[in-house]
Amino acid sequence: MSQQFYRAIVVGGSSGIGRELVLQLAASGCQVASVARRTEPSGENIRNYAHDVTDFAAAPALFQQICLELGGLDLIVYASGVMPSVGPDEFCFEKDKQMVDVNILGAVAWLNEAAQRFGQAGSGTIVGIGSVAGDRGRAPKPVYGASKAFFESYLESLRNRVGTKGVRVVTIKPGPTDTPMAAEHVGKKLPAAEAARQILAAARTGKRVVYVPGILKYVFAIIRALPSPIMQRLKF
Ligand SMILES: NC(=O)c1ccc[n+]([C@@H]2O[C@H](COP(=O)([O-])OP(=O)(O)OC[C@H]3O[C@@H](n4cnc5c(N)ncnc54)[C@H](OP(=O)(O)O)[C@@H]3O)[C@@H](O)[C@H]2O)c1
Repeated sequence: MSQQFYRAIVVGGSSGIGRELVLQLAASGCQVASVARRTEPSGENIRNYAHDVTDFAAAPALFQQICLELGGLDLIVYASGVMPSVGPDEFCFEKDKQMVDVNILGAVAWLNEAAQRFGQAGSGTIVGIGSVAGDRGRAPKPVYGASKAFFESYLESLRNRVGTKGVRVVTIKPGPTDTPMAAEHVGKKLPAAEAARQILAAARTGKRVVYVPGILKYVFAIIRALPSPIMQRLKF
């Protein structure tokens, strides 16, 4: 059954996919809290909260404050993410730590709060923006891919914990999407507005794991099945 959302938090709502989610949710009449370091101009139904997700200790109080100010919560999306460029022979701990902090620990700080609240309420939808990059250990961006593999596993665990209590947990796995993060990507990219439309459709029906666009489900079924020596040779 398709669900209408009335009060939502989008963590990472200042740019790219997250921004499009904020705009489309607001246009549907949903009250949206956009959380990010940059605060875009507020529009109708949109409230901005300046927050760095690596300030982990601040997340619980801000989560409670937003729920209070929205008058409730029925959807949270974790869209914050970083993917610094990494050279083929580069091993930079600082970049790796930033990806772990934003893509993993920030997500856990925010979604633990949501899982607890939704579990107690017996309803609510959690959406995590993972990536196809988490499907295999790929040569170009070791920690980015690993952070997305962690995220997918963590979301599956949340689903198995609170799914039986009426909470929906939706894992989104986008391919290349036209946002500032993917500026260096030269191949075909899905427009961010179309990605957001497909993500909201998946959230409304409470699907478990969704590739965006859907065709990537079949492409990555093949990539997941490739033997490790072939992945090593492809280096893609
Ligand atoms: N674009 C693609 O091709 C693609 C493909 C697969 C998956 N994804 C995933 O989709 C999600 C959205 O990415 P995007 O492509 O829309 O990238 P984007 O346009 O660069 O947006 C990234 C978002 O993350 C937020 N963010 C980064 N560091 C943060 C921090 N320390 N604290 C709070 N927020 C932070 C940014 O907000 P501030 O900078 O204002 O803080 C921004 O809102 C990411 O998880 C990404 O990994 C993207």
